[in-house]
Amino acid sequence: MSEEVTYADLKFQDSSKRENIHEFDTVGIKAPPAPSRGWRQRTLALTLLCLLLLIGLGVLGSFFYTTLKIEMGKLNKLQNFKEELQRNVSLQLIHNMNNSKMIMDLSNTLQEIATRLCHELYKREPEHKCKPCPKTWMWHEDSCYILTDNYETWQESVMFCSAQNASLLTIKNKSVLEFIKSKRLHRYWLGLSTKKDQSYQKLDETIISSNWLTRNRNDVNGRMHCGYIDTVYIYYTDCSLPMRFICQKLADPVKIESEIPDGKYS
Ligand SMILES: *[C@@H]1O[C@H](CO)[C@@H](O)[C@H](O)[C@H]1NC(C)=O
Ligand SMILES: *[C@@H]1O[C@H](CO)[C@@H](O)[C@H](O)[C@H]1NC(C)=O
Ligand SMILES: *[C@@H]1O[C@H](CO)[C@@H](O)[C@H](O)[C@H]1NC(C)=O
Ligand SMILES: *[C@@H]1O[C@H](CO)[C@@H](O)[C@H](O)[C@H]1NC(C)=O
Repeated sequence: MSEEVTYADLKFQDSSKRENIHEFDTVGIKAPPAPSRGWRQRTLALTLLCLLLLIGLGVLGSFFYTTLKIEMGKLNKLQNFKEELQRNVSLQLIHNMNNSKMIMDLSNTLQEIATRLCHELYKREPEHKCKPCPKTWMWHEDSCYILTDNYETWQESVMFCSAQNASLLTIKNKSVLEFIKSKRLHRYWLGLSTKKDQSYQKLDETIISSNWLTRNRNDVNGRMHCGYIDTVYIYYTDCSLPMRFICQKLADPVKIESEIPDGKYS
């Protein structure tokens, strides 16, 4: 609407101007500069406005640019911080892993020392409370052994040991062989596989590769022959004969506990 009005006004002014010119022409006097001064003023105002706009734009642009620069700087800093944090975290992780490995190595070493110490204590005092075997059981290397006082058939011996979470003695390495030999045992059932015939063999290193039981079996009858130890020999005889026997089982790890009573060393 306002544009129309302005156009109409302009038109009106235009026509009146022309009339004026016509009038002045007829009168013969030069036209006054008033209307062109208005134009110039308008042009000037417009130019000024344009200039102002340009300056505004410039100011805005530079403001935008500096803000962008600041924000980019902040973003970069943030990015760097993030990367440093990630580096630190992964370093920390490696450090923690190293630490937990060190702790594990240390506790393994501690366990070894405790076991060795307990072996020494056991030599002097067989029922020392550090012993990782049940009471009355012997401790050798990482296994526990018991020599029973009761007489049982071979099959019952197997069952008895089983009830103790153990099995009849097997001699599968030199260390156990020497340990058992040193006991000079008289007639104890062993965890050997049954045989059809009666036979014997010397208790030496060949025994290690004998046919040792790998699991308890229940199909033993009176016609089978079972192995027993007698000093430095191994004999096979009727499985239903009552005899003493040796059970073995794996020892628990030696417990590590601080047993220093409070105030003892203070
Ligand atoms: C990263 O670790 C270094 C050295 O330990 C420390 O100076 C820095 O402040 C840490 N950076 C962050 C982001 O935690
Ligand atoms: C972790 O251990 C390895 C070698 O075991 C070593 O080279 C590395 O420097 C250790 N790192 C830390 C953070 O302790
Ligand atoms: C020998 O065998 C017994 C189990 O039969 C085992 O506990 C022990 O660790 C073995 N010893 C060696 C030195 O291999
Ligand atoms: C045999 O082992 C079982 C389960 O591991 C346990 O509950 C039981 O007390 C053990 N028996 C003996 C005599 O050690």
